[in-house]
Amino acid sequence: MQPFISRDISLIEHFARDIIDGLSKENNKKWIKPRYLYDELGSSLFERICEQPEYYPFRTETGILKRYGQRIFKFMDDDVSVVELGSGNSVKTRILLSSLLEKQKHVFYLPIDVSQEILLRTTHDLNREFTRLNTFGIAADYSEGIREACNISAKNGTMPERKFVLFLGSTIGNFEYQEAIEFLTSLRASMREGDFLLLGFDLQKDVKLLEDAYNDRLGFTAAFNLNLLSRINRELGGEFRETDFRHLAFYNTEYHRIEMNLISKTTHEVHVNRLGRSFSFLKNERIHTENSYKFTLEKMKDIVERSGFQIAENFLDHNNLYCVGLMFANH
Ligand code: AVJ
Repeated sequence: MQPFISRDISLIEHFARDIIDGLSKENNKKWIKPRYLYDELGSSLFERICEQPEYYPFRTETGILKRYGQRIFKFMDDDVSVVELGSGNSVKTRILLSSLLEKQKHVFYLPIDVSQEILLRTTHDLNREFTRLNTFGIAADYSEGIREACNISAKNGTMPERKFVLFLGSTIGNFEYQEAIEFLTSLRASMREGDFLLLGFDLQKDVKLLEDAYNDRLGFTAAFNLNLLSRINRELGGEFRETDFRHLAFYNTEYHRIEMNLISKTTHEVHVNRLGRSFSFLKNERIHTENSYKFTLEKMKDIVERSGFQIAENFLDHNNLYCVGLMFANH
């Protein structure tokens, strides 16, 4: 089956509108949504971040999945279809898919991602790698992707109706509290009672460890952040110079989140040709590019329970750095 490619995700108009909105704001109010960090180059830079020793979330989550993969599937009596939100290169998912293939004759896997190139490559690789696996890639944002996943499973008579939804990598940390609840509530609405959600989220911890994870020594996180400006240049004809900005990531202890910013080194203006306008930056003014919330187990319990889920079990690493929670959809 051909992968589904949304007409909407690659719409340059959306990017253009969000850049105009975000960069027209005055005085330290400039903001660009983190999803724009993940174009083709951004997604591969993120893969490099995951290889850095300072970036504990990736390797810790991978360790948890390796250790508890079998145990997670013990909760499931029926065959499941796997839907993944923000699958990226599906490295971690391979661990779960191979455990599941020990239990199930056949597995249907529907990865959803905004990065079309990576999704197509992953779909192709997975279908070659695992013979009893059927991967249907969905290149779309989450809400459209979930709708499409439901369509595909409704049309396909052989796909198990019982869903196992993966939302890993602590992407839930990009949402505000209310947004997280709205998002999970709408996800819950597309699921049936007894379906499963596996949610990866990062835990509050020592500030030094947190800040190092977003300031890796080799500078991949900085390059990932600055690539946003180059993306504006590539796609919208911007005239940004990466050297006029610097990467700043720090932990906000009041809000329990890492904040990523691009700081303008000088007062200057940047013209963006395809938008037909310029944006001005003060010296030391910031463009806020990402929030990455860190949770307690209690906080996440509150969020998931308000969204119609119940915790089956939380799986943590030995150092309590990170949590993968198995939830099921409530009645
Ligand atoms: C993919 C959003 C979970 O917040 O840790 C990594 C993104 N940003 N380094 C995170 C990210 C900078 C990552 N998430």
